[in-house]
Amino acid sequence: MDSLSLIRQPVAAELEQYRSLFDSALQHDDDFLGHALAYVRQRRGKMMRPLLVLLMAKELGNVGEKSLRSAVTLELLHTASLVHDDVVDESQERRGQRSANAVFDNKVAVLLGDYLLSLSLLNAAETENVEVVRIISRLGGTLSEGEISQLAVIRDEEVSEEAYFHIIHHKTAALFAACARLGAISAGGDAAYVEKATKFGELIGICFQIRDDIFDYFPDGNIGKPTGNDMREGKLTLPVIHALRQAGNSETQLLVKKIKSGEATAADISAMVDFTLKNGGIAYAEQTMQRLHDEAVALLDDWKNEEVKEALHRYIDFVIKREI
Ligand code: IPE
Ligand code: IPE
Ligand code: MG
Ligand code: MG
Repeated sequence: MDSLSLIRQPVAAELEQYRSLFDSALQHDDDFLGHALAYVRQRRGKMMRPLLVLLMAKELGNVGEKSLRSAVTLELLHTASLVHDDVVDESQERRGQRSANAVFDNKVAVLLGDYLLSLSLLNAAETENVEVVRIISRLGGTLSEGEISQLAVIRDEEVSEEAYFHIIHHKTAALFAACARLGAISAGGDAAYVEKATKFGELIGICFQIRDDIFDYFPDGNIGKPTGNDMREGKLTLPVIHALRQAGNSETQLLVKKIKSGEATAADISAMVDFTLKNGGIAYAEQTMQRLHDEAVALLDDWKNEEVKEALHRYIDFVIKREI
């Protein structure tokens, strides 16, 4: 069995229920909107976020309607953020098919993302838990804050690890933290469990984005979306930030300026990638993930359901080693 199937095992039946709820949310009578929603629905992605919700709820016993709705809500918010992110990043491929902005256009993709966001809020309301609605409403804002500060940082001359972590905390880790938190809350977890689960989710999320950023330094693998886009968009991520701190000089400073202003040529970018690899940027990012991984693993000591605990160990291992 592959590692994702093993992670899914303790909640395999619940994932089926989740899938049918998610699919029924993405229907519409309007021909065009219905067609666009069906297009998005035909590629599920890895479902890492609903999986985390369900595993955190499973630790407490049976996974009920509130946990399933929370999973749907969070995956809808994630899906909305991807549709909008591909507009912002001018990216043409997502989940192994053309992105919504590529198939339709930016106008349709913006409105489609808005529609998905509204569906997400509607599902949050279905839990009839105001705290869930509050968390989701705030989270939508946090994701946007992350994407906006990423744009602001591109315009800054300075490159810092602190700014990088601020961005990924907002655009990615906050969502994973909310998945773990809502999994715990929706299943009636006590305050201590809710806090531990949230911290675990946050650590996973940071690792998840660092791994995603590493993909970008290598030629297209099988990840279903383009690589090499980040620097083209002016984004400098952890590996290059580290390499610049280690060995930056006036020549690399010039390259940084060109990349940030969007004037870098393919040769400039490939020089910067070489510089990053030569100066241990990838190794540093991997060590950082390993440190956060170990911190997350230590939190799992208190988990009681052995199957869930094992799946969460596998989950965090997958996040730092994944090839998709
Ligand atoms: C992509 O997330 C966005 C990032 C946070 C890097 P996933 O890699 O989980 O995307 P899907 O849902 O599996 O397509
Ligand atoms: C943004 O990160 C992920 C979101 C919060 C939507 P990226 O821009 O790196 O995500 P990908 O690589 O397009 O999936
Ligand atoms: Mg992107
Ligand atoms: Mg990326």
